[in-house]
Amino acid sequence: MTKYLIHGGRPLHGTIHISGAKNAAVAIIPAALLVDGVCRIENVPQISDVTLILQILRELGADVRLVNRTTVEVDCSHIRNRQVPYELARKIRASYYLVGALLSRFGWAEVPLPGGCDLGGRPVDQHIKGFVSMGADVEVRNGLIDARVPNGARLSGGQVYLDIVSVGATMNIMLAATLANGMTIIENAAKEPHIVDLANFLNSMGADIRGAGTDVIKIHGVARLRGGSYSIIPDQIEAGTYMAAVAAAGGDVLIRNVIPKHLECITAKLVEMGAEVEEEGDSLIVRRHGPLQRTNIKTMFYPGFPTDMHPQIAAVLCLARGTSVITEGVWDNRYRYTEEFRRLGARIQVDGKIAIIEGVEKLTGAPMEACDLRAGAAMIIAGLAAQGTSEISNVKHIERGYEDIIGKLSGIGADIRAVEVPDPEQKAAPAAG
Ligand code: UD1
Repeated sequence: MTKYLIHGGRPLHGTIHISGAKNAAVAIIPAALLVDGVCRIENVPQISDVTLILQILRELGADVRLVNRTTVEVDCSHIRNRQVPYELARKIRASYYLVGALLSRFGWAEVPLPGGCDLGGRPVDQHIKGFVSMGADVEVRNGLIDARVPNGARLSGGQVYLDIVSVGATMNIMLAATLANGMTIIENAAKEPHIVDLANFLNSMGADIRGAGTDVIKIHGVARLRGGSYSIIPDQIEAGTYMAAVAAAGGDVLIRNVIPKHLECITAKLVEMGAEVEEEGDSLIVRRHGPLQRTNIKTMFYPGFPTDMHPQIAAVLCLARGTSVITEGVWDNRYRYTEEFRRLGARIQVDGKIAIIEGVEKLTGAPMEACDLRAGAAMIIAGLAAQGTSEISNVKHIERGYEDIIGKLSGIGADIRAVEVPDPEQKAAPAAG
């Protein structure tokens, strides 16, 4: 199995390039199911979640062609199968987008309940509420979501008020409504950049979606979508993660291929904490030379501070002067990283949805186990800022969402490498036969 070995305590210097957004890619690729013809998708991040979603499309009968490192062509004109394989779907949260896409195109979908990071209860009731309001019968049984439109008809436009602002439900209902008869209105919609990106992708293929990026989205169903080309936006959270890494380890880094507007909430907090952030077109220069200062953070929906930046910012605050408070406003179970941070000497207490962090002078390297994607990234940041050697295991979580994180960090002077070690669980297993 792979571990990451980090010798920390070195400031970071150089240039880093941000890849396409994971959370946009894992919705836009399934959205190709709605299209009659070839979708050329550019700026696709090379991460394991994307590999999985492409594999699922292949299993369904799509023609998937990798044009180069970041461009893929997907042709779903000849889909044979509408049942998504359990072994693949359970590994990825975004497999739920296949329900909206298949239901919209074929009026029927059978998709295993999604997997992904364990961040507490991850219900899909708002997705289902949306499909039902468009005329689908939806049943959750034997670990599957079975959704179908009676009599093989198309979905019809509906009006959906989301009880909870949900990124996944907003995008899924948008997918389902694209080929429905009539107009669908989503109220209390989420506004994240990847929602706008999915709407732009669908519109560029012939859909009629207005209002994405506001809390009311109107989708006029169209008869068909045609093929075309689209480039995915840069990853807000990947960029934020490297910004946090510079703040924690110190140094001076040019972060290229970003949309600075998407990073404003992260920039504002890092500046409060003593970093400098300078905008230069589609790049940001992040510097930190002086001491880090405390701050308070509450995670919420866009344009608020993203929950997916919570553990990374906590890593920085472990080294800030004074006491900081983080309030998690989205997930129930985002604090599993705290136990690992304590091994490095961090002083961090959790009470319900609140973490209280008393900054310390220094962290000291230690072994840590990644428990989810963003927690894993935060452990890398803590390891880079700590004195001595840290070792991070269970890095498959990190590889779900960060393209070539070792190469990118090495390129800005971090001493980090991947090492192969024997899996202790395999060693302990009784010999076969
Ligand atoms: C997406 C992101 C994830 C991010 C999250 C919040 C992807 C693949 N994942 O997850 O990285 O942390 O947005 O920004 O894009 N909820 C319900 N019922 C539902 C749906 C959601 O109660 O039907 C609740 C959830 O339990 C959670 C909150 O709503 O408390 C937000 O969830 P949601 O925005 O749907 O997150 P995801 O789309 O799963």
